[in-house]
Amino acid sequence: MKTVGLFFGSETGNTESAASMIAAELGEGNVAMYNIADCDASTLASYDNIILGASTWGFGELQSDWENFLPGFDSVDLTGKTVALFGLGDQVNYADVFLDAMGTIYEKVRERGGTVVGSWATDGYDFTGSTAALNGSFVGLALDADNQDDLTAGRISEWVSMISPQLQ
Ligand SMILES: Cc1cc2nc3c(=O)[nH]c(=O)nc-3n(C[C@H](O)[C@H](O)[C@H](O)COP(=O)(O)O)c2cc1C
Repeated sequence: MKTVGLFFGSETGNTESAASMIAAELGEGNVAMYNIADCDASTLASYDNIILGASTWGFGELQSDWENFLPGFDSVDLTGKTVALFGLGDQVNYADVFLDAMGTIYEKVRERGGTVVGSWATDGYDFTGSTAALNGSFVGLALDADNQDDLTAGRISEWVSMISPQLQ
């Protein structure tokens, strides 16, 4: 497997901690991890396997570092790249806009030609609306550290096993 570029933005550390767990599951030697506060989107060009992690803030908005990072995608060609997404949100207090940031990022990755892998069933979540849910599946791994933190490690482990064979 080629090195995976894992990019995350995190306000209070939940997405960062999920990113570390994903890196550990993949094997630290297989992953280069970036806090997007410290790089720009041109770094994506160095990787054929990309994992993007984001929490949702405001009301269905991008986390603040993602607000700065995502516009840079317009200058990056993701054609031929395999991209997997994970999102952190709160399905109880933000049930109408659960994980919307992951939906926003998904749209941009598709627009730039990336092949998205790693969709995840919506079973086991209780929410009313999400731009990250299409046809009964989330477009990436859905994590809720606020309400279902006990499920996070198991979900990560299952998802990483699922996406690993699809990485180049
Ligand atoms: C002020 C505030 C706004 C939030 N807005 C949303 C939202 O619109 N949708 C959602 O799914 N989660 C929302 N959340 C939940 C966060 O995404 C969640 O706590 C996440 O784990 C934070 O991850 P981070 O520490 O990596 O930023 C919000 C949380 C706060 C405190």
